[in-house]
Amino acid sequence: GKVAVLFGGHSAERPVSLMSGNGVLEALKSAGVDAHAFDPAERPLQALKDERFERAFIALHGRGGEDGSLQGALEWLGIPYTGSGVTASGVAMDKTMTKRVWAAEGLTTPKYLALSREELTRERIRSIPDELGLPVVVKPPHEGSSIGITKAVGYSVMQEAVELALGFDDELLFEECIEGPELTCAVLGQGADAVALPVVEIRAAGGDYNFENKYVSDTTQYCFGTLAPALEAEIQQMVLKAYRLLGCRGWGRADLMLRKSDMKPFLLEMNTSPGMTSHSLVPKAAKAVGIEYPQLCLWLLAQART
Ligand code: DAL
Ligand code: MG
Repeated sequence: GKVAVLFGGHSAERPVSLMSGNGVLEALKSAGVDAHAFDPAERPLQALKDERFERAFIALHGRGGEDGSLQGALEWLGIPYTGSGVTASGVAMDKTMTKRVWAAEGLTTPKYLALSREELTRERIRSIPDELGLPVVVKPPHEGSSIGITKAVGYSVMQEAVELALGFDDELLFEECIEGPELTCAVLGQGADAVALPVVEIRAAGGDYNFENKYVSDTTQYCFGTLAPALEAEIQQMVLKAYRLLGCRGWGRADLMLRKSDMKPFLLEMNTSPGMTSHSLVPKAAKAVGIEYPQLCLWLLAQART
């Protein structure tokens, strides 16, 4: 039957979704799937029903695509979709809420503060480094691809970092900065059958895996097998627990920091609609275990459900 590849959308990550969606669409078409592009920013979702689409592959990132709202609409329409359901998508889209769930269950995540626009007076902003140290990472909790994020290295840049992040969210997340390499670990499946893919260590120019180093630059290195096997296994177990606690389904990708001083891993977030661009991490991790990009797309589509 007809498959809609949902991509584009209206979030700040639209440009990333266009890259992910085009990749998925081409892969599915080449594999003989009757796949069509569908941008929910341009067309009402009811058209999926009217035009007899039988399944949806979600290649949207950020608000309106990864946050549970689209998943809820597809539930209403009765159209099976790839990836997590409403609740897991909604919680994972909010980095602060995710940390609360993980911390409550004993998973390690950097120390943090969540403060609303109203609470963020000049005095309060100045006091944040007293609690979390410097540098401190300022994040709009509902964004992805590093959009709106600043690693604030001193008091002087805090105000600017807060203003930037407030352009995306009304409540901000301030996180203790963990010094060390950034890691990522993808998961495929659900519940007891979920499996973690190999951990990827990211080596970005200047140690900063920002938007440019994610999608534009070709200098970022993605390394496999750099960790001691016991540490790799520990991280995979931690990520599987993190994934199951959120109730994720289909696939997901956890991002972590590894503290250099004692090699302790800290969970940052879970992406429930990970990037599928030519630079993206899940395709690289899948390839490392012999799953090529088109196979990965077909497998994800086969997992689609309501
Ligand atoms: N938010 C981007 C798409 C990712 O995590 O891959
Ligand atoms: Mg993210």
